[in-house]
Amino acid sequence: MPDPQLVLAARVQDALSAAFGPSYADADPVIRPSQFADLQANVALPLAKKLGRKPREVADEIVKNLDVTGVVSDVQVSGPGFINLTLSDVWIAGEAQRALEDERLGVPATGHPQKVVVEYSSPNVAKEMHVGHLRTTIVGDAIARILDFLGHDVVRDNHVGDWGTPFGMLIEHLLDLGEDAAARGDSSVRDLTAFYQAARQKFDGDEGFADRSRRRVVALQAGDAETLRLWNVLVDVSKNYFNSVYGRLGVTLTDDDIKGESFYNDLLAPTVQELEDKGIAVVSDGALCAFPPGFTGREGEPLPVIIRKSDGGYNYSTTDLATIRYRVDTEHVDRMIYVVGAPQALHFQMVFAVARMAGWLNDDVRAEHAQIGNVLGTDGKILRTRAGGTVKLAELIDEGIERAGAAYDEVQHDESFDAATRAAIVQDVGIGAIKYADLSVARDSEYVFDFDRMISFNGKTGPYLQYAAARIRSIFRKGGLTPDEATGPIRLTDPAERALALQLLGFGAALEQAGETAEPHKLATYVYSVADAYTTFHENCPVLKAPDEETKASRLALCAATLRTLTTGLALLGVPTPERM
Ligand code: ARG
Repeated sequence: MPDPQLVLAARVQDALSAAFGPSYADADPVIRPSQFADLQANVALPLAKKLGRKPREVADEIVKNLDVTGVVSDVQVSGPGFINLTLSDVWIAGEAQRALEDERLGVPATGHPQKVVVEYSSPNVAKEMHVGHLRTTIVGDAIARILDFLGHDVVRDNHVGDWGTPFGMLIEHLLDLGEDAAARGDSSVRDLTAFYQAARQKFDGDEGFADRSRRRVVALQAGDAETLRLWNVLVDVSKNYFNSVYGRLGVTLTDDDIKGESFYNDLLAPTVQELEDKGIAVVSDGALCAFPPGFTGREGEPLPVIIRKSDGGYNYSTTDLATIRYRVDTEHVDRMIYVVGAPQALHFQMVFAVARMAGWLNDDVRAEHAQIGNVLGTDGKILRTRAGGTVKLAELIDEGIERAGAAYDEVQHDESFDAATRAAIVQDVGIGAIKYADLSVARDSEYVFDFDRMISFNGKTGPYLQYAAARIRSIFRKGGLTPDEATGPIRLTDPAERALALQLLGFGAALEQAGETAEPHKLATYVYSVADAYTTFHENCPVLKAPDEETKASRLALCAATLRTLTTGLALLGVPTPERM
């Protein structure tokens, strides 16, 4: 779909090279939204400086060479040298029509598909998922869906924490409770927080237990079959639990996407060996360390990435380095996106720096930390339970759906639904509210978790967007046709029709930017602006009662294109859109 901004950028660049020579063909035409027209090109100002001429003169010269026939209906030079560009109604209508007729809404699949690992969710085995994992899960899933849609080869990767020293005590605790407790789904095992805490308490207070646990870690690392079997029992209990959360949230992760820390266990030694061979890893204070350039501590001393501890054990960084090496050597990926909390920023910067020293990362293979900000309570501090504990994700979802039910019952509905239909709608509203609230803020900024705000049917919320889609569907039901049967042609007469159609043309650019920067909020913001333009259209332009058949056909087509843009955009955010509300 031709984003008007890109179309005009190319035309202005042609004019620049015609007016000032081919060396200006790549100059940034500085196309921006305009108060006085649809867009304005501001390139004359910086260019005038460079040429030592008056900006207004430069602008006139660009306009003289500008060929925008068929695209722009009016060109005006204003102020010091802004070029105001008003798009032609016929052009907008034609492009909206093309989008309507295309199953991808005019968004082409990329001509340069990349293999992209999106590493997200990554909870820890034998621990409850908490509210921090809400964001790494939802944001990561949206990034994966968007890149998929854009035509990339996406590898979903759930890097669960399933290895390391705690598993000694967890296995011993499981043995104390009796394995059958796990098989029965006994709450002592199923309640992961309680299970973990009980194990921890015994480890801290009972020397004998701590001893057994340490021996168990050694057996685990050595690949002892019985120990691995017990470890698997724990992993399975957690996987079931993760899957239940993913299922409720509508997250696309499956067991096949799990490549936990344990997966890289056998690759740790060869990874470390390669770092030693390349002279990157050196012994310092008994530990094997790498010192990536540019990282220093408070006193200016070089900061180490510890690769092998003095006791011979590997740690978190070692696993992440082995992971990068595996993805490059075996999976041949072009891009890795780590959707992980912002507190781990330094860790990733340093790990990436070491991977660059080793040659695993370079200009052709990118790794990026898609940082996730904290979720705050209404008191502005990290979200906690009233008792001060971490908020369990499963309980948060329960509460969201319950509150969505109450909010839903308070608003007027055109139709009444049976209990099962209502429950399904409420489920979608609750989940949609939580997910959209999370996705509509920049992923690296903090936000206040406030059910009242996110579940509202007004404002920049999931339920508002879901409602906009349902409202369009109901027009088609009342009109006795399906959205697919609305084929136009689209003609634009009312300003609200024009504004809506213009908004629809921005879908491809919004997706492109969201995928490029791994920032789903750019898509979330776009979808909202479509719904907003639709609301104005809805208030000003009767559809089924349009003044004549041609207008009615055009408006139905605009409704159909809007509906598909909304549902596709929301689906790429993982937000469900109920048929009726
Ligand atoms: N399991 C970790 C946690 O819950 C996140 C893992 C992040 N990914 C990584 N490659 N280090 O905090």
